[in-house]
Amino acid sequence: MKKAIIIGASSGIGKELAIELSKRGYELGLTARRLNLLDELSNLCVNKTYIEYMDVEKHEESIDILQKLIERMGGFDILIYNAGIGDSSGLFVKENQMFNINMIGFAALSRHAYHYFKKEKKEGHIVGVSSIAGVRGMRMAVGYAATKAFMWNYMEGLRHKATAEKLPIAITDIRPGFIETDMTKGQKGMFWVQTAEKAARQIADAIARKSKVAYITRRWWLVKQVFSLMPDFMWNKS
Ligand SMILES: NC(=O)c1ccc[n+]([C@@H]2O[C@H](COP(=O)([O-])OP(=O)(O)OC[C@H]3O[C@@H](n4cnc5c(N)ncnc54)[C@H](OP(=O)(O)O)[C@@H]3O)[C@@H](O)[C@H]2O)c1
Repeated sequence: MKKAIIIGASSGIGKELAIELSKRGYELGLTARRLNLLDELSNLCVNKTYIEYMDVEKHEESIDILQKLIERMGGFDILIYNAGIGDSSGLFVKENQMFNINMIGFAALSRHAYHYFKKEKKEGHIVGVSSIAGVRGMRMAVGYAATKAFMWNYMEGLRHKATAEKLPIAITDIRPGFIETDMTKGQKGMFWVQTAEKAARQIADAIARKSKVAYITRRWWLVKQVFSLMPDFMWNKS
């Protein structure tokens, strides 16, 4: 039985992914701050689950909790970093919190997983839920888009490193478009919005295939191509 740990599993995409992976036979480690929601979630999972309180803003403490969870589970195969917040208030404290969660928390835990797999000489898989927003800098989400671009780049770097070190560690960058969750509640101007359940099924498929990059849903690949190719003068007017 494969064992996966989901960081940020209490709601939205993380919660639905836990239910989907459990149905597919995974044993799961689930972390977040809202332990009551993790408790409820573990009752919805058909296979064994282990839950742990984790606040990913507390980086060193999160690494220790991850390591203890790995030991409680008797090892693991896949780390899925899904925790994230979106803030477009422009306030420094809020932006700083977002940097701590979306970037530093992600780097701290994915780096720990990489070194765990390397030390144990075992096959491993690191999955990061970034966003289509990583494609370019954007006025409506300056800080958020930057955090997701960081994740794209960090995962490419880890993949490059694993290849150079000849390690069997797969890296999957999950790039959702708009998904119906607490994060997007009441947000204006969304299109191609999908349910978290459908997103979770496509994410679980991408994990099974060990895809390098997956757009959720798939049509967001087109948006990535168009946005990347758009010359600056057009992008700045959009
Ligand atoms: N919804 C979308 O349209 C969309 C699009 C692209 C990318 N994404 C990405 O998808 C991921 C999941 O978001 P979602 O839409 O499912 O939103 P959500 O329902 O708000 O879920 C966010 C998850 O992150 C966890 N989290 C937040 N701050 C945390 C902290 N300090 N410590 C530990 N866990 C923390 C939350 O758990 P607790 O609050 O219980 O700690 C929760 O489980 C995020 O990384 C987001 O950027 C979402």
